[in-house]
Amino acid sequence: MEGAALTRRGLLVGIGAAGGAGAMYAAMGALGLAPSEPSEQEKEFVPPRTGDFTLRGKGTAKVVILGAGVAGLTAAYELGKAGYDCTLLEARQKAGGRNLTLRGGDRLTELNGPAQDVRFGEGVYFNAGPGRIAPWMVTLDYCRELGVPIETFINTNAAAYVHVNDRTVRARTARADMYGYVAELLAKATNVGALDKTLTKDDRERLLEFLRRFGDLGPKHAYEGSDRRGFTKYPAIDIGTPLDAPASLHRVLAAGTGRAITNDFGYEQATPMFQPVGGMDVIVAKLTEAVGKERIRTGVKVTKITNLADGVEITWDGGALKADYCIAALPPHILAKIPHNLGAEVTAALTTPTPIAAGKIGLEYGRRWWELEDRIYGGVTETDLDITHIWYPSHGYHSERGLLVGYYATEGDAELYGALTPQDRRHRALTQGKKIHGEKYRQNLLSSASIAWERQEHIQGGWVRWPAFDSSFTFLQRPAGRVYFAGDWLTHLIAWQAGAMESARGVVTRLHQRVLQSP
Ligand code: ALA
Repeated sequence: MEGAALTRRGLLVGIGAAGGAGAMYAAMGALGLAPSEPSEQEKEFVPPRTGDFTLRGKGTAKVVILGAGVAGLTAAYELGKAGYDCTLLEARQKAGGRNLTLRGGDRLTELNGPAQDVRFGEGVYFNAGPGRIAPWMVTLDYCRELGVPIETFINTNAAAYVHVNDRTVRARTARADMYGYVAELLAKATNVGALDKTLTKDDRERLLEFLRRFGDLGPKHAYEGSDRRGFTKYPAIDIGTPLDAPASLHRVLAAGTGRAITNDFGYEQATPMFQPVGGMDVIVAKLTEAVGKERIRTGVKVTKITNLADGVEITWDGGALKADYCIAALPPHILAKIPHNLGAEVTAALTTPTPIAAGKIGLEYGRRWWELEDRIYGGVTETDLDITHIWYPSHGYHSERGLLVGYYATEGDAELYGALTPQDRRHRALTQGKKIHGEKYRQNLLSSASIAWERQEHIQGGWVRWPAFDSSFTFLQRPAGRVYFAGDWLTHLIAWQAGAMESARGVVTRLHQRVLQSP
């Protein structure tokens, strides 16, 4: 009997590890180990809607969470729902971590640089960190559950520009030409028999039929241009004036627009994407409200993490607290610098990923010239300049003011901007943007604010890169004694809030199993 019980227990632990507490509870039901009707206690935690994550059963342990970024807040939120007593220690002056939205009246400080007083007008905001959410991401489940209203984030806009090799074309023109010529080439290869070994006669017909549509080819399968390229005057009562014929294949290839017109092919960037109405930090505000503001202690810089036999002790300048468990939800390179007794292997694993620089500038204009003159309503212009992208706002259309993201750069380009003063960042961004939009890019500018994430205290990076998702990555997914690790950096969704949230869910599931199983 004992053997059988142990085997069943082993099985349940396995199921729990793979499928979470919900799966384990369901399996317990199937094995006749759990009551078929949930108890009153469990009823409290039944998910209100499909897709919402919920821990089953009540936990009573005390948990200290280091870092009130998205991972820390999500962990506290989920543990709180299941009855845990959580305290969050946050070194910065406010919760949210990289989920940072700047508004008029904010002051942004940075390491080795001057502070910036944000002077945006009423209602204008700048998502200095995350700015877009893919619909399959768990972030949207939290928006729904927490009542964060969302709206479409326009990531791909045919009217936005592609600026490569000093040439600016509309995205629709760049796409039409590349698709057109690629279709023509493949049709040619098919028609001269180059693919006869691969394709049947029917296959060839079907392929040609598709290529005609894909490239908008002419009757002889040649790309002769297409009204997909756009117009100098769009049709109205008259037929309009289409753009001139495309440049030669050679010139279109030399223009190198390929990279810029494939961004939305990826599962992370495909249309549609979403953003919270009013700023990304509405997610932080709602999580904070749900967790309880009084549980978040800001300005607390942890100086020591001590694993004890029966708990953890966290120390900071002027204080210490003991808890049953700790969730360290800080960036790995920041965590690695805090003295601890978790062992050298933990430090080695924490220092394995490399922080990546990332920066953005918000440019506030008193006139939405991109809508009025360029007819660009949201979306992104892709460039081979150091600004990399220009983002146009996906909200507030036709209002008086508006804010563009004038650069969103990473790695070397981000370091270049980060090393400049805020004024010089702005000057450089305006000089670059002018190459695309002309003189108006420097006119009607009201104010700006820029962030260099590698210079943000207690964060020091936009995100991290693992040399490989190998043993260090999996090692830190397990707790070191009573200390668990959480963050986007421990998932395959690095640089996404969804990564932080998924990581937090995984950790609280494992922690909760442990609590339920401990005597
Ligand atoms: N998640 C980041 C972005 O969408 C990297 O730009």
